[in-house]
Amino acid sequence: MKQPSRRRRGVILTLKGWDKFQASIAQAEFDDNAGDSFSLEELSNRTCLALHTISKILTRKELIDRSSLQSAFVAFNFELSKNDYTQPSSTLEELETRQANPQYDWGQAPDVSVFFGRSEELLQLRQWILEERCRLVRLLGIGGIGKSTLAVKLGLQIQSEFEVVVWRSLLNAPAVEEQITNILQFLLWALRKEMVIPESFDGKLSKLIEFLQSNRCLLILDNVETILAGGKVGQCRPGYEGYGQLLKRVVEVPHIKLVCIQVAHYLVETVISHLSLVLCKYK
Ligand SMILES: Nc1ncnc2c1ncn2[C@@H]1O[C@H](COP(=O)(O)OP(=O)(O)OP(=O)(O)O)[C@@H](O)[C@H]1O
Ligand SMILES: [Mg+2]
Repeated sequence: MKQPSRRRRGVILTLKGWDKFQASIAQAEFDDNAGDSFSLEELSNRTCLALHTISKILTRKELIDRSSLQSAFVAFNFELSKNDYTQPSSTLEELETRQANPQYDWGQAPDVSVFFGRSEELLQLRQWILEERCRLVRLLGIGGIGKSTLAVKLGLQIQSEFEVVVWRSLLNAPAVEEQITNILQFLLWALRKEMVIPESFDGKLSKLIEFLQSNRCLLILDNVETILAGGKVGQCRPGYEGYGQLLKRVVEVPHIKLVCIQVAHYLVETVISHLSLVLCKYK
């Protein structure tokens, strides 16, 4: 007999709550600890919570009871509000399976272990993607300003919210059919599905869209400028129109669960008078 799904008890911080908690710790470190970081033990003493509870709160990977969260906030002079925590809707089995089988393909993504600043941009992007459920986000800016680094940092921060994460660079302008086949192959492997990949481009695209309607995926396309016509973010070079078709579907098909982050360094569509990184959201 099929066992009923075990519903998960407890809550985790939302990213908004996590930001608030981190900011309150940073403030207390500044006020009470000469700006030095608190150790886990110090956080535990201050909140009167066990070390493993503090660690669970900070990593957002395991559930904790709401009263512990409340104590942690109170210890840092903050009130816990409803937007600060969430009760994940997935069953325990789903989450356990997902955690045991991380389906993240970061390919040759740049190393972001040294990263500083950009907290406003990260907050804005997380809000668009996780709260407003935007499906298409673009990071634009001149070469070397930090677009790829920001996209990877963001992806790593939010990857646990997705079933599949795929990062691809279009630096050498790969053919769209090859790219879609490659992404489909990864999805099939990641989602443990068996299927013959259709021969035609339209068939592949339809299959991909079908998958993206039932599985929450994050696709990060870096160096998109290589396939753009004249640097216009909405138009593709001859032979690369398939990328445009994919993005059109991402925006237009109902119930699609793909979030696509495009990273490009052409700014023809965006007039900027200073050399800043520009974030755009679509749909
Ligand atoms: N927030 C950051 N913290 C630390 N280093 C950073 C940060 N942002 C960028 N860098 C460093 O600056 C350099 C350029 O960053 P990055 O490659 O992300 O720029 P880009 O805008 O993607 O450039 P391109 O348009 O050439 O692809 C890299 O060496 C990267 O490590
Ligand atoms: Mg880059």
